[in-house]
Amino acid sequence: MMKRSQETVAAGLKTVLTRSPKRAAEFLRRGEVVAFPTETVYGLGAPVFDEPAIRKIFEAKGRPADNPLIAHISNIRQLNLLARRVTPAAQKFIAKFFPGPLTVILPKAPAVPDIATAGLDTVGIRMPSDPQAREFLRACGTPVVAPSANRSGKPSPTTWEAVREDLDGRIACILRGGATEVGLESTVVDCTGRVPLVLRAGAVTLEQLRTVVPSTRLFRPRKNALARSPGMKHRHYAPRARVVIVDSLSGAVRSENAGFIGLRTPKPATGFGQAMLCQNVVEYARRLFHFFRQCDAAGVATIYCESVAESGLGVALMDRLRRASEMQPSPGRRRSA
Ligand code: TXA
Ligand code: MG
Repeated sequence: MMKRSQETVAAGLKTVLTRSPKRAAEFLRRGEVVAFPTETVYGLGAPVFDEPAIRKIFEAKGRPADNPLIAHISNIRQLNLLARRVTPAAQKFIAKFFPGPLTVILPKAPAVPDIATAGLDTVGIRMPSDPQAREFLRACGTPVVAPSANRSGKPSPTTWEAVREDLDGRIACILRGGATEVGLESTVVDCTGRVPLVLRAGAVTLEQLRTVVPSTRLFRPRKNALARSPGMKHRHYAPRARVVIVDSLSGAVRSENAGFIGLRTPKPATGFGQAMLCQNVVEYARRLFHFFRQCDAAGVATIYCESVAESGLGVALMDRLRRASEMQPSPGRRRSA
């Protein structure tokens, strides 16, 4: 069914570009979907209790219906509209990390529509810290469900231009902000069980989560086991180009047809069609998805990505690099989501 509705989306909407959070919120309040910046990546929002509007998100993105959305709130009081219960672990995480790049999974309140959570009895909730996002969410006057504002299967957008590239003519409005600060999607932590489980690594690190709930663990799906975070089984984060992870610059094959991204070295990254050397892991994370898109625009065939140490933000960065390198489309086939 999803498929048919994707095809009927008329790519003929006039997408309004605005810098005004209030103006963007007016579109949302009328039941239109709106892309907006957050500190992680741009999101594509609709009011959480508006099922037809939420359907438009799935249609605009070409997103599989079994992938649940995160609800974004502007104040703590909105938690009770969404969650049946705020578990003790979630309370601690919220006290310490909201607003910020953290999503907590909680038992869902009955009023949250199934389409928002893909039929799950849990809901993901996050309060962004980005000032424009906060102003937008306040003006919306309702929690806003929002996945990343990319076409399904493409890297998450970190600039408004990337949103426009993917969704122009398919959504009503883009709230135009700057490049996002973190560059990778939020940390997702399931707080419904005995032990909090990190389903998706992000800028709030496992180490940081453990400072408030020491038992927190990374969730490692067993092979073939149903992904606990349904989105994690879908193709994600990948550019069109082939992504190859290398230990260092010397592991990359220089060519005009290749790209390289990694940490700054004494040796210059010459001989690549596209190259990006970053000061540290934070900058690497911030620039990665943009670099992927830049390489695709330049027609690069292979992107070499230098691996980083898996601690702190390095865990999230390596997670995205692995996904991008493992989930390559088979040539000539339309990508699935
Ligand atoms: O930083 C972010 O989280 C961005 C910005 C826009 O907030 N949003 C984002 O949304 O990355 P999306 O839809 O691209 O990724 C949401 C992830 C998916 O992996 C999804 O499966 C998982 O969160 N998720 C959402 N609700 C869930 C739930 N109830 N249980 C388990 N996983 C859930
Ligand atoms: Mg996404």
